Amino acid sequence: MDLQLQGQVALVTGGSKGIGEAIVRALLAEGMRVANVNRSADEGQALEREYAERGQECSFIQADLSDADSCQRAVQTALDRFGRLDVVINNAGVNDGAGLDAGAERFIRSLQRNLVHYYLIVHHAREELIRRRGAVVNIGSKVAVTGQGGTSGYAAAKGAINSLTREWALELAQHGVRVNTVIPAEVWTPMYAEWLATLPDPQQARRDIERLIPLGQRFTTAEEIAAMVVFLASPRSAHTTGQIIYVDGGYTHLDRKYVPPAVT
Ligand SMILES: NC(=O)c1ccc[n+]([C@@H]2O[C@H](COP(=O)([O-])OP(=O)(O)OC[C@H]3O[C@@H](n4cnc5c(N)ncnc54)[C@H](O)[C@@H]3O)[C@@H](O)[C@H]2O)c1
Repeated sequence: MDLQLQGQVALVTGGSKGIGEAIVRALLAEGMRVANVNRSADEGQALEREYAERGQECSFIQADLSDADSCQRAVQTALDRFGRLDVVINNAGVNDGAGLDAGAERFIRSLQRNLVHYYLIVHHAREELIRRRGAVVNIGSKVAVTGQGGTSGYAAAKGAINSLTREWALELAQHGVRVNTVIPAEVWTPMYAEWLATLPDPQQARRDIERLIPLGQRFTTAEEIAAMVVFLASPRSAHTTGQIIYVDGGYTHLDRKYVPPAVT
């Protein structure tokens, strides 16, 4: 299927690693031009070079998105470089463990890392998205609906992202701009590996988690998340908006007591 994205421009936050990188690569594979907004320079610049050698644009924009002014600069830089913006993918975030014991400063900091920039990127991009009748895809988390324990800031941010998906979808529907959210649960990425490494027995913890994932008893791949994101970014999903879509092998909603029959 031709997703009709050829030549369009996407801004992706946190596109240098993990899920964001898979999204960037999937958008480029559809012939899009990409602005990758990321904090650390090395991976972003390497991606830019890799695609430049193939004649494709994966323009790296260095920014710490937890800083409000940087969000405005990032959108403006993308517009200056490409002259248009059709798609925004809000992806950057970190499960930073600001729990009930953390207090005001760490809780607010977690919202700045996980929520405020989602709003600010769309805020600064909205006029251009309206002009292009574009699309926004947010990356949420199952933590918004399941909780996790010890991570109030992240849970609050991801819950708010689900709410904002509905709010923005409605506010922007009159302009033909669509807004959807993709929810990962257990995806093997650098962030996930770092978190698992903090547990007493990471290998056993990984096996325990995998057993709870109904479809295939395995982690979702970043590419599987990216495939859904690209579809939602594309005109092929022209009548889909305000949706919160779980790409999680059934982890969040299906009965965890289910044990697959042994293969004989
Ligand atoms: N991995 C999972 O299992 C999982 C599960 C649920 C939700 N998610 C969500 O998916 C998204 C991506 O997660 P991931 O696992 O790929 O993470 P990751 O840490 O592997 O990659 C995130 C990328 O975003 C960048 N980034 C983070 N905060 C930034 C900031 N303030 N400014 C600029 N760049 C920043 C990082 O440098 C990194 O390149 C996040 O929103 C996360 O909450 C992931």
